[in-house]
Amino acid sequence: MQDLSANQPIGIFDSGVGGLTVANAICKLLPHENTIYFGDTIHLPYGDKSSDAVKNYATKITKFLIEKQCKMVVVACNTASAAAFEILKKQFEDKILLVDVIEPMVQYVKKNFSDKKIGVIATKGTIASGVYEKKLAEFGIHDVHSLATPLLVHLIEEGFSRHTGSQLLVHEYLHHPQLRKIAVLVLACTHYPILKNTMEEFYHNEVKVLDSTEITAIEVQQKLAENNLLRTNGEATHRFYVSDYTVAFEQVAQLFYGDKIHLQKQNIWNEG
Ligand code: DGL
Repeated sequence: MQDLSANQPIGIFDSGVGGLTVANAICKLLPHENTIYFGDTIHLPYGDKSSDAVKNYATKITKFLIEKQCKMVVVACNTASAAAFEILKKQFEDKILLVDVIEPMVQYVKKNFSDKKIGVIATKGTIASGVYEKKLAEFGIHDVHSLATPLLVHLIEEGFSRHTGSQLLVHEYLHHPQLRKIAVLVLACTHYPILKNTMEEFYHNEVKVLDSTEITAIEVQQKLAENNLLRTNGEATHRFYVSDYTVAFEQVAQLFYGDKIHLQKQNIWNEG
């Protein structure tokens, strides 16, 4: 590991606004940490892309965040975590700290819900990878039922999360036979916490709906602490980059960070 210091920022990325749910949880838990967020809006949605394409995007973004002096990169996207985390570890683990969103959730389910019937909803890419089934099976958890729910990302990116159309779609998906009689629903896409209330209402709070935001923030805290890299005082700065500017991104981002958000467009694919 190269020499890293606590004042260096944490890099966080996703295809769009979804990773902001994780970024926000990190900022709440670790208010002194500087962050740099990268939303790869030009390639959104990742869930419909090939695993090779997602690997490529994730690698390039991680390089960009390393150039921006990040001490840690958080892959705040399940699709990218499923497709690219192993490759990112091989390439960059000697330079920076890396955190994904799948491993913390798997550990959390193992610890708290190992005897329950588990439902998993995610993008097509994450579901096709079978990553949750495989990782949970390693701990003897086999009652896992997955469903791809790709249209939710579009509604969220367009700022439609409070629209009745979103509610109808959530109901349609959660009624699917694949999710019948589950006790726990894993939101395996970082966009979905934005619709978590709608899902909890659908289940009348009888199904435990889990999202990876706080669980991942705790993992970030632990990893930084283990490496003496926690920033424990001083005001934090937050920078936001997008590969393509969209008004929708800015509006959804403002829900989390208020008006002070300033988006910088950075198409890292057109450089060099
Ligand atoms: N937020 C993402 C995830 O966790 C990606 C959504 C997408 O771009 O399809 O998978």
